[in-house]
Amino acid sequence: MSYNKLCKDSLQQILSKINGEIALSFSYQAEDTVVLHLLSQCEIKSLEVFTLDTGKLFKECEELHQKIEEFFKIPIKRYSPEKSDVKELENRLGTWGMRDSLENRRSCCHVRKVEPLKKALKNKSAWVTGLRAAQSITRSELKIVEYDEKLDVFKINPLIFWSEDDVFGYIKKYDLPLNPLYAKGFKSIGCEPCTRAVKKSEDARAGRWWWENPEHKECGLHVKEK
Ligand code: ADX
Ligand code: SF4
Repeated sequence: MSYNKLCKDSLQQILSKINGEIALSFSYQAEDTVVLHLLSQCEIKSLEVFTLDTGKLFKECEELHQKIEEFFKIPIKRYSPEKSDVKELENRLGTWGMRDSLENRRSCCHVRKVEPLKKALKNKSAWVTGLRAAQSITRSELKIVEYDEKLDVFKINPLIFWSEDDVFGYIKKYDLPLNPLYAKGFKSIGCEPCTRAVKKSEDARAGRWWWENPEHKECGLHVKEK
């Protein structure tokens, strides 16, 4: 594959137009590692790499956290949900209540992901993600650069036109650290209660919120709220 689909020079051009701090959201998936590798070759005045530490991540993600920090020589900052909100959520939903209804699941994602994202992006000018349009029908309209009015940041999606093979080809080519969950049959990685391994024939997001319809499979980070 040609990695010129959005090469680092184009990414550099986009980033050069941004005044202020740039943030990369890091979810321990291969896409984010590719984006971090591209960013590490760009000249950026101020970059923060952050993760939304939902309290429900796999232990494999925790292990990768340190490896990525060492490999790229950059800290990954954690943004966590409010303790009081988590307590209320746990009282209301118990351990598995997020699977009982779409409403329950969305309220858990809201507390554990969407609210911490707001904290992470406060005072940032741009938000870089590892989103790909091919991941899901909910992502087919993505643009390389969009303005997120609600969060008041430019959102940059450098891998928008990349395929799964492009991503893993890049990881292999540059020998980048990879989440061990991929070797255990995971094709997409989120929180432990809501993510499972998939069969080779299943699509990547089949293992995310597998009890829901495809059009609902978004945690709210990438939904433009009105
Ligand atoms: S999700 O909305 O379904 O959870 P997905 O797992 O596909 O998103 O990841 C898409 C992008 O969202 C990632 O490349 C990353 O930029 C961001 N993201 C998702 N989850 C997190 C997380 N826990 N912490 C930081 N960024 C995340
Ligand atoms: Fe909660 Fe599951 Fe959403 Fe994680 S993915 S925040 S555990 S509902």
